[in-house]
Amino acid sequence: MINIDAHNHVRGKSVYLDDIPEINGTLFCLPFYAETAHAHISSIDYEKALQLKGIIYILTSKDIPGQNQIGGIIPDEPLFPENEIHYWGQPLGLIVGTSEFICRKARKLIEISFDELPVITCPRVAQKRNQLIVPPRTFRIGNTDDVWTDCAYVIDGRTDVNGQEHLYIETQGAYAWPKEDGSIYVASSTQGPTAVQRTIATVLDLPMHKIEVNVVRLGGGFGGKEDQATMWAVFAALSAHKLGKPVKISLHRMDDMCMTGKRHPYSSDYKIGLSKDLKIKAYEVTHFQNAGAAADLSPAILERTLFHSTNAYYIPNVVATAWSCKTNLPPNTAFRGFGGPQGKFVIEAAIVKAAEIIGVKPDEIQKANLVDDGDEFPYGQVIQNAEAKHSWKECASVYNLDEIKHKVLTFNASNSRFKKGYAVQPICFGISFTNTMMNHARALVHIYQDGSVVVSTGAVEMGQGVNTKLLQIASEIFGINPNKIRIESTNTLRIANTSPTAASAGADLNGKALEMACNTLLQRLISVVENNYKVEDIKFCNDQIATSDASFVISWNDLVIKAFQQRVSLSEHAHYATPVIHYDKAKEKGHPFAYHVYGTAILEVTVDCLKGTYQFDSVKIVHDFGKSMNTDVDNGQIEGGLVQGIGWMTIEEILYNEKGKLISNALSTYKVPDIYSVPKEIIIRHLDTTGPDLAIKKSKAVGEPPLMYGLGAYFAIRKAVKAFNPKADLTFDAPYTPEKVLMDLYR
Ligand code: MTE
Ligand code: MOS
Repeated sequence: MINIDAHNHVRGKSVYLDDIPEINGTLFCLPFYAETAHAHISSIDYEKALQLKGIIYILTSKDIPGQNQIGGIIPDEPLFPENEIHYWGQPLGLIVGTSEFICRKARKLIEISFDELPVITCPRVAQKRNQLIVPPRTFRIGNTDDVWTDCAYVIDGRTDVNGQEHLYIETQGAYAWPKEDGSIYVASSTQGPTAVQRTIATVLDLPMHKIEVNVVRLGGGFGGKEDQATMWAVFAALSAHKLGKPVKISLHRMDDMCMTGKRHPYSSDYKIGLSKDLKIKAYEVTHFQNAGAAADLSPAILERTLFHSTNAYYIPNVVATAWSCKTNLPPNTAFRGFGGPQGKFVIEAAIVKAAEIIGVKPDEIQKANLVDDGDEFPYGQVIQNAEAKHSWKECASVYNLDEIKHKVLTFNASNSRFKKGYAVQPICFGISFTNTMMNHARALVHIYQDGSVVVSTGAVEMGQGVNTKLLQIASEIFGINPNKIRIESTNTLRIANTSPTAASAGADLNGKALEMACNTLLQRLISVVENNYKVEDIKFCNDQIATSDASFVISWNDLVIKAFQQRVSLSEHAHYATPVIHYDKAKEKGHPFAYHVYGTAILEVTVDCLKGTYQFDSVKIVHDFGKSMNTDVDNGQIEGGLVQGIGWMTIEEILYNEKGKLISNALSTYKVPDIYSVPKEIIIRHLDTTGPDLAIKKSKAVGEPPLMYGLGAYFAIRKAVKAFNPKADLTFDAPYTPEKVLMDLYR
């Protein structure tokens, strides 16, 4: 089945937030902020702004009826700070006017005086000053102290990875209007409708049942709208509530880039010990997470960094510690992989460094340490159905890794200006929210009298194709044509208490709930057939219900009418909670993941050693989909995730100046992969695996894992640089921009 949004997307007919027809009298709101990252506010002068025709009101913390607080995990983030500014772009209040244009004009007229305070942008500095979001956490297995002396090689070092701008095509926004009884309707571009609902209720001091949040779809989220879509929705709702008018906000790209958090930059120290036969015996790592000015989702992201600190490798002795460090940057947030990629970068760098020192190829070390059934992760989960070795073997043989290596060698021997590099990149990613409590979902299904069906779940469509998968589930269970089924928007009145669509678990959780609701309805319909027609062994297929010998046939529509006439309920609401999983934070042990996703990629790159530029010749992947329920949608997720990962590792560079101002604040200064810079070739091969029962229809979650194939991009380039300049002492400092490559080529 093709993605059900495809036709409307390519015709520009799909409705995003800014496409919602505006109600007459709609006002616009725009936050204002001070040109500083850390300061005491001494005064704000609105006089000139208020005199502009079309400016209705300027809203500040004094206008908040409830709590001035929007922190999700920890209440450490005021909606509007009362006296201290913590990051450049932190909203101090809202300008409400008759057009966005006039609000922008007014913003330039607001005069803010402040006394500057020291600005910290480096997580290591923050950690030294004990500026932490939460206390540090440590995962351990075995005992590293005892084994260092037995190791043939012990290598240590430091790595740095930068953040990443989400660059969803649809910027943040919301549209809210008051309803008759003091309740509020909010259209939001959010991955977490319930978080939006709950936070608006807190800020407005209203019960949650008075806030209706509706999400049709997102023009991309990538984690950037898991927590950080909330603020804008609160702005719109607060203004609508205060003024009794519909109020809309839709961020200008440069405001979005400046005011929102990004992927967390990390700085890490590692120490790795190997035996003569290249087995990793011990690994110690300390991560310094750059959390920004408030917690946001940082503690949860920190946790996933620890879960994935050993990637797809079995290491018997591990100590992994992570610090969440408070800096004067916008609060950093979820981004595809959720801290996992940052954890994996360090172990991959450690392996590459070890290989360079020992004088072997990194893939020899990688291959010798892949996880297998029965191995235990540092967090206590014992591995079942590992596909790490399987995917590696398949990848190395079908794509002929030996030949690729040989090709690279011979090319480099006969070329001086261009050098090639390759990297093998295995991945292993746990599926489930690491906070066990969040792993549940609901679905609501109505069958109408005419046989048409409408489905609501808590899943948010953001381009990943979850609605297409939901449609497939309902259509298959009822045996009816997909055009008889509609997937409705995600709405907090229809589906309550949703977890955000995140952790790649959207299709699993909501799909399983949908399966349950559909199966209950199916049982009811089967009873109607059995009671009325005294037949057994019936099948629902092709809009019909029939016995296997076709001696009895009734159409779907006729059966639905029959059930309705006999007063059988044609509606069902179901709730699914992932079984098996659990986690004990006190012990840092448990079984947090329903299952793991595996895969292996080979990345090949050519570096122009005169210019420092590079081109990815090919990325060849063997991915463990389980039994993919939609290969087009899933392959799309692999390609998108991969390219996003390569972008993060190569050309996407976020820069703040020493005053904490974002310098890469527009598409002219922040470069993402485009059609010219994507790999010339991407081949995706499906690994033949059974797929776990906890995955929807045994089709494994695919949203985030492929991003981590992109890690290999860094190491492939490094290999080419080393081929040109073998003696250079290189650091691990991603992204590997052409500027940095050029410096390293001649270092
Ligand atoms: N794909 C598209 N096209 N747009 C997105 O915003 N977000 C990613 C991934 N793939 C995203 C995407 C992220 S961060 C996650 S967690 C998953 O999709 C969420 O959807 P799922 O749980 O249905 O896989
Ligand atoms: Mo995805 S980073 O879990 O929204």
